[in-house]
Amino acid sequence: MQSEHADLLAGYRARMSSAASQEVLRSIEREAFDKGGTIAGMLAKVPSLEPSERAGAGRAANELKRALEADFAAARERLAQAALERERSGGDFDATLPAPKARRGSLHPLTQVQRELEDLFTSMGYEVLDGPEIELERNNFDALNIAKDHPARDAMDTFWVKTPPGQERLVLRTHTSPVQVRAMAHLKPPFRAIAPGKVFRQETTDASHEHTFHQMEGLVVGEGISVGNLIGTMQTLLQGIFGRAIEVRLRPGYFPFVEPGFELDARCPFCKQGCSVCKRSTWIELLPCGLVHPRVLEAGGIDIERYSGFAFGLGLSRLVMMRHGIEDVRHLLAGDLRFLEQF
Ligand code: DAH
Repeated sequence: MQSEHADLLAGYRARMSSAASQEVLRSIEREAFDKGGTIAGMLAKVPSLEPSERAGAGRAANELKRALEADFAAARERLAQAALERERSGGDFDATLPAPKARRGSLHPLTQVQRELEDLFTSMGYEVLDGPEIELERNNFDALNIAKDHPARDAMDTFWVKTPPGQERLVLRTHTSPVQVRAMAHLKPPFRAIAPGKVFRQETTDASHEHTFHQMEGLVVGEGISVGNLIGTMQTLLQGIFGRAIEVRLRPGYFPFVEPGFELDARCPFCKQGCSVCKRSTWIELLPCGLVHPRVLEAGGIDIERYSGFAFGLGLSRLVMMRHGIEDVRHLLAGDLRFLEQF
């Protein structure tokens, strides 16, 4: 190596060994290797040299470059080791300092409402049930008295799961009602149960339609269960949600698995004269419900001479939107922290 190169190398080595951090080392390294740096400058000069000197100068510059590269790598490794050592021996670590605050998240607004309702219903003697999100066609439709030609069975409305021919067909459940079927198979009347969970529909999504949303099914089976029990329970539910008595009304509604079936409306809890939430009507559509259709009870193996029941299907997503004034259902499952951090 030419003596001028040997001096350069020695100079760099001295600076490397006194570099106290990776950042300092990196800045020295840039001086050597960056555009316009030591090595680049040397190589740039080669073409202007006498032809007989060019090969030698090029080789010498490359030799210096390789030597520097090896030294920088070694210096980097040395600094990393030293940092590890310091950490191990507790050098930079002060155990008496308060720990950095952990960033705490919060429960999703859907989870909050779900848990409140679970508390409320379990306090009334209900069990909380869970059902699979991939459900048998039979449980999602047939056992609920939903006819073969019902439009809900159409591929336009429902996500069907590919199943081999001859095997029972599966769907992403379109509602939580199939948990009613599972409850009747497992519980002995009298019983009360709720089943919160995700449901799926093949929707074109917009502010009020989402392919995945949350419902909470309710089912009560016992002797002499009537519409009166249903209304009383819904009043208790509203009292629990809004903290005061709220008037309800029933309108007829059709669902194949209840007879009679109703739409239950609640007096708008937000206004007296009409507002945007109740669309100026002072009534809010709260949930569909009804007395369980005898065919559904029978399919569930329940003695219809002795028992009757009521069921309801609460739209959890809608309830959360109403509670917080959320105008677009798609916010709920988008996972955007700017939205979630508000709860
Ligand atoms: N499963 C129905 C739906 O998603 C809602 C429903 C209506 C549930 C009436 C019920 C009921 O339990 O009694 O459209």
